[in-house]
Amino acid sequence: MQDLINQHLAAIAAHAASTPDEVEQFRIKYLGRKGILNDLFEAFKVVPGDQKKLLGQELNKLKNAVQEKLDAMQSASSASTRNTEAFDLSRPTGTVPLGTRHPLAIVRREILDIFSRMGFTVADGPEIEDDWHVFSGLNFPPEHPARDMQDTFFIHKPEQEGEKEMVLRTHTSSVQVRAMENQKPPIRIVMPGRVYRNEAVSSRAHCQFHQIEGLYIDEGVSFADMKQTLQYFTQEFFGKAKIRLRPSYFPFTEPSAEMDVYWGLNSEADYRITKGTGWLEIMGCGMVDPAVLSASGIDPERYSGFAFGMGIERITMLRYQVDDLRMFFENDVRFLRQFQG
Ligand code: DAH
Repeated sequence: MQDLINQHLAAIAAHAASTPDEVEQFRIKYLGRKGILNDLFEAFKVVPGDQKKLLGQELNKLKNAVQEKLDAMQSASSASTRNTEAFDLSRPTGTVPLGTRHPLAIVRREILDIFSRMGFTVADGPEIEDDWHVFSGLNFPPEHPARDMQDTFFIHKPEQEGEKEMVLRTHTSSVQVRAMENQKPPIRIVMPGRVYRNEAVSSRAHCQFHQIEGLYIDEGVSFADMKQTLQYFTQEFFGKAKIRLRPSYFPFTEPSAEMDVYWGLNSEADYRITKGTGWLEIMGCGMVDPAVLSASGIDPERYSGFAFGMGIERITMLRYQVDDLRMFFENDVRFLRQFQG
């Protein structure tokens, strides 16, 4: 058996194969089911015990030699095909499919762009926030329902004196407070970001979504300035000129309003989405409550300002007539590919 192995080792070393077919024949000859190696391992089973150790090592040597030879021949043969005319390395590649921007990103960018034309700059803040920036600093009384377990995701409940309650922010209004604490007026910023609410997922609600917040503080800022700013935004974004401000309530603004845009009643869809009124609610807004200004260290006697906040999902749904919010979070490329911008 030793002789046989030696013969094969010599044959392998001398073997030459140039085409892929020949390489394959070599593989079958040695490694195939009825190949030489299988035969030898069969024969090995009946070898007397005292020779097993040595012959076993020899057999393994042969097996490795076969594998090495095969690898060498395979890489040589693929290198030679690569150098033939079948491969023209100077040819241009096929087109690489480009991804598309997410519809929420397209709309966010467009909104920020419109406000930047009015002199607003972009600011942001943390998604994990303390109670002060999300609620107390915005005039939410301690028992306000928005703090309720049903709405807010709590990250950390204080266990000792001096620890802060940490939550996932439920709105981007928290960034207003940070901005007012850190900057001196005039402040003119828009604040896009992700927010979280403990809500059941449906076609109209999600536990994680996006808002854009706006804040403008300076001397002599009036309600009329707010209306003009929002009117300009609506005209630029939706191409619709008619808005109305409906009285509303938010703890951090006084007076507070909801802004509706006149969508029209030109199609069946218009009737459906406006519930037959022609009007659509777009955002919340109002004059920053003097108590909020002073809590952040801004003198309400000298400065005034307005704030507004809108949901990016809602606006994107209106813009593209998407009727299920979950589409934005499923990452189905068949959906996402339809948006260009
Ligand atoms: N933070 C409010 C919300 O999440 C939206 C909002 C309303 C923001 C009025 C504002 C505002 O800045 O003035 O529903």
